[in-house]
Parts: sequence; structure tokens; C-alpha cells
Amino acid sequence: MINEKELVMRALEARKHAYVPYSHWAVGAALLTKEGTVYEGCNIENAAHTPTNCAERTAFFKAVSEGERDFAAIAVVGAYETEEPEKICAPCGVCRQVMMEFCDPDTFRVILGTKDGVQVSQTLKEMLPYGFGPDVLNTKN
Ligand code: THU
Repeated sequence: MINEKELVMRALEARKHAYVPYSHWAVGAALLTKEGTVYEGCNIENAAHTPTNCAERTAFFKAVSEGERDFAAIAVVGAYETEEPEKICAPCGVCRQVMMEFCDPDTFRVILGTKDGVQVSQTLKEMLPYGFGPDVLNTKN
């Protein structure tokens, strides 16, 4: 199984495909399934702005559309396109919510990396406390 540092390296590779003509902020993500498959994603911007898709969601939508449902971790890196990531780039709220839809918040790990490797590794629950997920709607009171 790939380790967290290797997953960050895959996110750095994914970032090379970022399409960012408007913000110039290039993000890469690498999503690891429990079986060990990695789905890479980058942000894909749009002239109309709203259709822009973050790197994390690109990775999730690629994976889910291929039939994957069991995820272990995601690594994320981001920086201006002309620079190497030297600081962490934390997932936006929308991407955390998409993680909440498909991942166990107690075990799914969100890994924030830089060019040097892993800087932060937390559970989704730590990243998104009191998250609203599918379990809530299934709860009977
Ligand atoms: N972005 C991501 O892809 N992921 C994040 O975690 C933060 C933001 C993208 C969206 C947009 O293309 C650019 O970064 C600037 O907001």
C-alpha cells in the first residue's frame, strides 16, 4: 500500500495538469481507495467561473464514476502555478462536504502536503467537525 508521502507525490504530479487560466492557483489531489488504487485530480477552471471544479472533487468524481465507493485518504497540494507548493492548501468547504458523502469521517485521512512531503494528516472528522452526512438522513428518532 502506498504511504502518505507517496500519495503527496502523486498529488504533485496531478497538479501539473491543473487548468487555471483565471486564478493561476494550481491544485493537485490524489485519492486513495481502500484497495490501493489512486485517482488523481486537478482543478479545472472555467471562463464563467461557477463551473470551476476543485482538484479534490475532480478526483472523487473520477473515482465514483468508475465504481469506487471505499476510500482511505486524499492528499492535496496547491500553490501559484509558477511555484512549487511550500505551504499547505486546505480543502474548501464544498470539497470537505463531498468527502463527507463518501467517506467515514472517523477513519478517512486528509493529507495536506508541500513539495517536501506530508505537513498535516488528519481525519475528515478533524477537518470537518459536526459534518452533515448521509448517516444523518438515515437516522430515525
Ligand atoms: N481550489 C482547489 O482546487 N482546491 C482547494 O482545496 C482550494 C481551491 C481551486 C479552485 C480554483 O480553481 C482555485 O483553486 C482558486 O480558488
